[in-house]
Amino acid sequence: MAETTLDVRHLPKGDAYATLQSQLDAILDGLDDEIAAMATMSSVLMQGFGFLWAGFYRVVAPSLLRVGPYQGGLGCLEIPFDKGVCGAAARQKRTIIVPDVNAFAGHIACDARAQSEIVVPVVDGTDALIAVLDIDSAEPGRFDEVDARGLERAVRWFAARPTKVVGKRP
Ligand code: SME
Repeated sequence: MAETTLDVRHLPKGDAYATLQSQLDAILDGLDDEIAAMATMSSVLMQGFGFLWAGFYRVVAPSLLRVGPYQGGLGCLEIPFDKGVCGAAARQKRTIIVPDVNAFAGHIACDARAQSEIVVPVVDGTDALIAVLDIDSAEPGRFDEVDARGLERAVRWFAARPTKVVGKRP
């Protein structure tokens, strides 16, 4: 297992995601615990890129997200599917890139420094939505298709899991 978190900001973005993905693959290999995976991904992404906020909102009821593992300042505790960028990504089950959060109707500002955001849906092996991955940046226009593909690749871990059982399988 990799012993330290990596800062990949010196690398071209595609290489940065590839590097972090290799680290995640090594750390998460054999794990069967989605909360541990969410916590690990949040840490690796946050330390890797120096974002403002990186973490997960989990689907805890029909049309309701609740904050899960994350890194950064306090996030909202709950976000209904009809609110915010997170709600929109959950409802539409697609990645949403917001270059300017001030121009997104309904954006929920958890940190006044946030300028841009990306939210990626997380599905399990049955294609059911289980969470969204939310990342905020203090830089306007920080996210593009390279980020979308890199983050979508990272959360495929949840779809590739054999079961939704938490803990070691016999
Ligand atoms: N900005 C998000 C809310 C969550 S925080 O950014 C951590 C949204 O509009 O859904």
